Amino acid sequence: MTITPRNHDANGLERLILVGGRSHPGFTEAIATTLAHPTDPVRLRTFSDGAIEVKYEANVRGRDVFIVQTGHANPNDHHMELLFLIDAARRASARSITAVLPYFPYGKGDKKDEPRVSIRARVIADTMEVAGVDRVLTVDLHAGQLQGFFHVPVDNLYAMTIFATEVERLATAGTINAPVFIAPDAGRAKLARDYTRRLAHLGAGVAIGDKVRPTQDETSEVTALLGSVTGRDCIIVDDIIFTGGTLCNMARAVHDAGAKSVRAMVTHGLLTGDASVQIDGSPLAEVVVTDTVPLPATAGTRVRQVSIAPLFAHAIRSICEETSISRLFE
Ligand code: R5P
Repeated sequence: MTITPRNHDANGLERLILVGGRSHPGFTEAIATTLAHPTDPVRLRTFSDGAIEVKYEANVRGRDVFIVQTGHANPNDHHMELLFLIDAARRASARSITAVLPYFPYGKGDKKDEPRVSIRARVIADTMEVAGVDRVLTVDLHAGQLQGFFHVPVDNLYAMTIFATEVERLATAGTINAPVFIAPDAGRAKLARDYTRRLAHLGAGVAIGDKVRPTQDETSEVTALLGSVTGRDCIIVDDIIFTGGTLCNMARAVHDAGAKSVRAMVTHGLLTGDASVQIDGSPLAEVVVTDTVPLPATAGTRVRQVSIAPLFAHAIRSICEETSISRLFE
């Protein structure tokens, strides 16, 4: 039997095994590029009955395995594939297993807000722990409290660092001036205030929207806008775009309240249904999203993607080297 030793890693990441599920291979590759560390081969197959099979092609014994899987488009199959990858690594004696979830699926299912409904995010957490995960790495959870659904550590990164750089760039170019950060609902009020604090040197302000979902589907209505936006460059900040209803309704409300310009910075651009058509017909000058999920082919020219993969790569390095992750946000 030939035992192939692991190549020496000039970056000191000898123990790292980096693999990706089938949800977002480009993101896994982007992390690998930043780390200057190759992805490791896995065999991922779906049989004719829909059953999934996974196999690590390289030795993972005693290694720190990082599995990248995002939760868009087909979250159910992607989650099962993730569980099988966790289970396979555990059974192959990995030293540690980290699930890297650029977009955490079912994050909105975090409470029992109606009788007889499932707390789906909790089920996602429980199944990962039962499979054997040791740590979760993600960004902008829909609610930070989701970390408490796990008994293992959860590192929840912030896209604000990346978007703040974008705002600085727009301000330096003279495209915007003294921006007002808008929370489209009460859930994002703290986020909008955080931006305002971080970018206080630009003369930033804050406004908070309120919205209701009159029916139990995905439609929403803006009910109020608290704060002054007249004559100001406004930036709506949020965690997710699904149908685009929340974003476009708020953009219209801000525009109608006399804003000079309206744009948005949102972490997870899922852009389901006709979200792109809605954005194209809205007052939004630009919508900046990260690459936690692939940009849909239907996304129009107003949607721009910035990569958050380097931040994940730095966090993975910090975990491997047992150094602080919070320093990445200073
Ligand atoms: C709501 O709590 C979220 O933060 C988003 O605002 C919402 O999920 C976006 O959904 P949609 O684009 O369908 O309005």
